[in-house]
Amino acid sequence: MLTEDHVIVQNSQMTDAPTNGANSAAGEDFVADALGRPLQDLRISLLDRCNFRCPYCMPEAEYTEDYQFLSKSARLSHDEIFRVASIAVGLGVTKLRVTGGEPLLDKNVASLVSRLAELRGVDDLALTTNGVLLAPVAQSLADAGLQRVTVSIDSLDTEIFKAMSGNRGDLDKVFAGIEAAERAGLSPIKINVVVQRGVNDHTVLDVLERFRGTGHIVRLIEFMDVGNRNGWSMDQVVPSKETLKSVQAKWPMRAVDSNYPGEVARRYQYLDGKGEIGFISSVTEPFCGSCSRARLSADGTIYTCLFATTGTSLRQMLRDGSGDEAIADVLQRIWLKRKDRYSELRQPEPVERPLVNKIEMYRMGG
Ligand code: GTP
Ligand code: 5AD
Ligand code: SF4
Ligand code: SF4
Repeated sequence: MLTEDHVIVQNSQMTDAPTNGANSAAGEDFVADALGRPLQDLRISLLDRCNFRCPYCMPEAEYTEDYQFLSKSARLSHDEIFRVASIAVGLGVTKLRVTGGEPLLDKNVASLVSRLAELRGVDDLALTTNGVLLAPVAQSLADAGLQRVTVSIDSLDTEIFKAMSGNRGDLDKVFAGIEAAERAGLSPIKINVVVQRGVNDHTVLDVLERFRGTGHIVRLIEFMDVGNRNGWSMDQVVPSKETLKSVQAKWPMRAVDSNYPGEVARRYQYLDGKGEIGFISSVTEPFCGSCSRARLSADGTIYTCLFATTGTSLRQMLRDGSGDEAIADVLQRIWLKRKDRYSELRQPEPVERPLVNKIEMYRMGG
């Protein structure tokens, strides 16, 4: 039973109802949050471990060999993850993203993907990876029903890449991963670049040049103040407008419409037909107004904002014999009362350290 202030909206009543695919939840009820935003997208963090130590995410000095990550029993099993995903799909979710930490550290990720791919109503099933472990599994992921991958590459300069992966990355392996993904048809392949002033901003054009004409879509992401451990400050953020200007000076582009309501990247196409890129400008041009993303962490907690300080754990319910309906009810209530709009609230003057106990991004799912 629903008792919160809420709305459940019919697709036909929404001005920006999901339109991106034949299998979308068209015609079914779905849940809108307190600001009218539908629950459309579930990002699933498989595990909190990673084989990288990107300084903007898991700084090496903090995440040492003896750092206590979640134990296997603390993490949701694949059965539990699948159950939450299927309940979320029942509430209107149409997009699933498997993430981490590094999701490919889970050796059985393809079997989970094959189950998620069977869910009726899911029209987008993607995975985010740092790419190092991708080559050997790309084909099996595609066979399992994964539609596409997003791979992070912050720079093509070997030294900068190495530093930005916490001395763990191997660009050759990442490229082998991208090529394998290409062969397996896991496209469009998106390449995420976190742009940090004084670190890799001078190498952004090289990344764009490398991928122009390949069909892969590079997205330039403003360095964000997620978590508490990355030493974020506004002077390390390169506003997308500034980056756009330098890209335009080399390759003229035009803005193009979003692919779907709530897309975080602003799309631009090269005028010479060499493809498109995207800008993700959470700091200087927040997009909370259309944010339709929930995150399921590896320990079974639902977070409704990337900058959340708290979430709601579903793990006990998943393990104490509670039925799907009861879990759906909890998930629905979480969404119905959601008012998050962190990035908008810190506008127009981003503050230096607004919250001190934010959940780290690798824990809640990127
Ligand atoms: P597509 O489904 O391909 O459009 O993916 P996406 O735009 O969701 O991209 P992806 O999962 O690769 O996210 C790219 C980056 O955008 C993330 O790593 C974050 O840095 C940022 N991002 C994604 N979702 C959010 C969000 O809800 N809030 C904020 N502030 N940033 C986000
Ligand atoms: N700011 C912006 N993007 C980040 N990511 C991780 N931490 C940050 C941050 N502080 C990105 C990674 C990856 C995605 C999952 O999240 O580069 O592409
Ligand atoms: Fe790992 Fe991704 Fe975090 Fe880098 S950004 S440490 S690859 S989870
Ligand atoms: Fe969504 Fe929170 Fe990001 Fe705003 S800051 S877009 S509400 S996740």
